[in-house]
Amino acid sequence: MSGSIINVSIDGRPVAVAEGATVLDAARELGIDVPTMCYLKDAKPFTSCMVCLVEDTASQKLLPACSSLAQDGMTIRTDTAQVHEARQRALELLLSEHVGDCEGPCRCACPVHLDIPRLLRAVGRADWRSARSIVDDAQPPCVGEQDCKAPCERVCRRNQVDAAVSNSHYGSISSRSVIPSLPRDLLIIENTGDLLRQAQHRLSTSLEMTDQTRHECLQNENCCAAVSIRAVVRCVAGLDVEATAGPSVEAFVRNVSVIGKLMAEEHPVMMRDVSAASRVVAVDPDGGYAADEATREAARCMHCDCRKGHDCALRDYAIAYEADQRHYAGGGRRPFEQITQHADILYEPGKCIRCGICVRITEREREPLGLTFIGRGFDVRIGVPFEGSLAEGLREVARDCAEACPTGALCVRKEAQQ
Ligand code: SF4
Ligand code: SF4
Ligand code: SF4
Ligand code: FES
Repeated sequence: MSGSIINVSIDGRPVAVAEGATVLDAARELGIDVPTMCYLKDAKPFTSCMVCLVEDTASQKLLPACSSLAQDGMTIRTDTAQVHEARQRALELLLSEHVGDCEGPCRCACPVHLDIPRLLRAVGRADWRSARSIVDDAQPPCVGEQDCKAPCERVCRRNQVDAAVSNSHYGSISSRSVIPSLPRDLLIIENTGDLLRQAQHRLSTSLEMTDQTRHECLQNENCCAAVSIRAVVRCVAGLDVEATAGPSVEAFVRNVSVIGKLMAEEHPVMMRDVSAASRVVAVDPDGGYAADEATREAARCMHCDCRKGHDCALRDYAIAYEADQRHYAGGGRRPFEQITQHADILYEPGKCIRCGICVRITEREREPLGLTFIGRGFDVRIGVPFEGSLAEGLREVARDCAEACPTGALCVRKEAQQ
């Protein structure tokens, strides 16, 4: 039967594939998106993440698309409620053991979701142009005409070590005369239909945006920052919730993995490569930081945000499938770790979903020592055979592994500093 053609139907669309093709191959032939986390093209399926589940309509059973062979006459659905829920649960299982912050606590607390960690890195390398554009994108209240109580500083992780990183840089790099007054926050709410839907899911609360409430919001000159999730709840659902600046809706939805309070043993990990100096006091407090003061203060930031936050399949799918990290949450969590033995690559084991992609790449490319699974069950982790260092294990394909890693577990150090 070698070389036979197999006819299957996916979401009601027929497709012919060669014998030996998988359901995933057939779906991709049709341009149907099936999420995958452990799939590696041209490698033996690993079938560990279960994010690629699809429904076989004849048996109504769920199948992993990446490893199930397409069979003649098969009818598959990728878009049923059962499929959605199964993928959501699979992602929640992965997130339940996951140790990392997608975004820094400061950014999440900012009412306009200003990317403060990235801003601080730009300030730290005196890249004023980038810093300015990050500020311009978000237009935070602290550089406009509005008052801001700096919730970013209240939640700054550095408080747990000594004192918060100062937000005075924003004033240093931005001129009030250049940045126009903030657009009405309510304009933002107009654009948050999808975010609202997801916030509703997370809050298990009905957030109905009626024409009436929308009208009232738009008429209200003193309306709270409607980008705050609590304010949205108040504005939209009419609940009596204090409208203090809280995390933005976007942060609420996009921050799928959160570490929470640091454990004492994690302080040295977070403080590695970070200035241990005390908070910089501006010589001219009214004028904000001078350039050298701003760069010194920025060097105190602990880079709480994930180095692959912009390019993480786990995060993207968790948002798309509305997966909740707390769904399977147990009591404690593993400590946050960073393995820094490699000059170019950073490894954060808490973000590893044990998909085996990096292991298979090192095998396929015949990396001399390579990577392997070490340990068993819950404690299994990626490591280097014979207790070698990461630098010894990844001599040839370090970058390939980091680029293929579907999470922030492996990342290229230099790119991560941007
Ligand atoms: S690896 Fe992905 S899910 Fe995990 S903290 Fe980073 S961005 Fe978030
Ligand atoms: S240490 Fe830096 S990234 Fe972390 S919360 Fe403070 S300002 Fe944000
Ligand atoms: S380090 Fe990345 S690629 Fe390797 S097993 Fe973990 S998640 Fe997968
Ligand atoms: S089980 Fe199919 S991609 Fe992971």
